[in-house]
Amino acid sequence: MVVPREDALSTGGARPVVAVVLAAGLGTRMKSRLPKVLHEAGGRPLLAWPLDAARAAGCARIVVVAGHGAEEVQRRFAADDVRFMLQERQLGTGHALAQAAPEVEGEATVLVLSGDVPLVRVETLRALLAAAGDCGAAMAVADLDAPASLGRVLATNDGRLAAIVEFKDATPDQRAVRTINAGLYALPAPAIFDELARLRPNNAQAELYLTDAVTALAQQSGGVALHRLADPDEALGVNTRVELAQVHRLLVERKLQELMLAGVTVLEPQRTRIDAEVTVSQDTVIHPDVSILGKSAVGAGCTLHQGAWLRDTTLGDDVTIEPHSVLDGAIVESGCRVGPFARLRPGTRLGAGARVGNFVEVKASRLGAGAKANHLAYVGDATVGEKANIGAGVVTCNYDGEKKHPTDIGAGAFVGSDTMLVAPVRVGSGATTAAGSVITKDVPDGALAIGRSRQRNLEGWQQRRKKKRDEKG
Ligand code: UD1
Ligand code: CA
Repeated sequence: MVVPREDALSTGGARPVVAVVLAAGLGTRMKSRLPKVLHEAGGRPLLAWPLDAARAAGCARIVVVAGHGAEEVQRRFAADDVRFMLQERQLGTGHALAQAAPEVEGEATVLVLSGDVPLVRVETLRALLAAAGDCGAAMAVADLDAPASLGRVLATNDGRLAAIVEFKDATPDQRAVRTINAGLYALPAPAIFDELARLRPNNAQAELYLTDAVTALAQQSGGVALHRLADPDEALGVNTRVELAQVHRLLVERKLQELMLAGVTVLEPQRTRIDAEVTVSQDTVIHPDVSILGKSAVGAGCTLHQGAWLRDTTLGDDVTIEPHSVLDGAIVESGCRVGPFARLRPGTRLGAGARVGNFVEVKASRLGAGAKANHLAYVGDATVGEKANIGAGVVTCNYDGEKKHPTDIGAGAFVGSDTMLVAPVRVGSGATTAAGSVITKDVPDGALAIGRSRQRNLEGWQQRRKKKRDEKG
């Protein structure tokens, strides 16, 4: 699937840093048809996290070693700075890293990450690169109370790496060691590839262990520096959906903490979800059960009440979202009030101070500043002028069964309750439509349009009916 390019690594001069993300693992324990690294945590596929961390650490080039679901992975993550190498059979982490060799020419530092370890911080990658120095090696370790089946790290007297022993190959004494291999390394090339080429699968899992190659580097002159993770959660990997939920929560908590420290009130963090790329400005207050997803941006001084759900939505300043409102791909200017129980669909833009109330759906429409649609309306493919009022139960009949048509409502117009606006149609500025009208023709500016049958009152009808019944009975 990959044709190595000749210009791949001709950076010249200083040792280039190439990140290699190992992501070929089968992920059998996920019990899923989706490749493991495409499962989402914190609103993004798992693989996006180490990729972005590597980018932020200044890696100009990233190699993803893909296997299971490689085509899907490549499609999802194709980018100028990413190369994909196929590991057809998953023969172990050493074999996986060896696949990246054609992409790393000459002298380089290889930063190794795992596609299923999303909590890795850019500061950690920078620290690893610094610890590796110019041509040395470094790896991240963590001290865990419950090191489970992770690889154990044995240290020399001067605190450098002596050996990494996989749990399945470890003696009881080695298993008692609480320092584990986090699976993050900064390694010198070509030395590491020379060691990988010498690997043999003489171990309990009959795999080619990257850890054996790193242990071999430890015997060489520079040795391997150990970088202790201050936050061992950074090493958490995802193998099951239980672990997926754990890292998801941790990623969201990280985001919420960042926002709270920047001046956003999050009343109940454990009941709030905000995706990584969302921005929220100062003094916005977020009530429980709010989700802000995708590339949303929330201004300052906003209040998002319980159950607000926003995706790819922009709010200006001082916007209030009342409970249980859904905003998807909308732009809401400053001072607007939306909901409760409102739905703004993609292409909605509300001008400053506009108001959209309960059970109102707006799609691909612009409401001018100060316009109102307070109750039970459908506004689709419409342009609504400033300060126009859309009455309760108004419907823009925008679809004729084949095509969508536009509705244009002028500034200051008053669209009476239960008006059906059969598009394409225009209601002029300052015009009024009578309640219950079916408007099929344009209404001139300032006119009153009445499009309904005239009311007749039949005086005394009830008595006449009663009399008839009595005569029969
Ligand atoms: C590995 C380390 C272990 C460490 C742990 C940290 C080895 C031999 N052991 O354990 O010391 O404590 O990581 O999480 O390296 N992968 C491939 N191709 C393969 C095998 C794995 O791409 O053939 C990828 C996986 O998709 C994963 C990463 O490499 O992203 C690590 O593999 P995994 O099987 O999870 O590592 P462990 O054997 O658990
Ligand atoms: Ca394994």
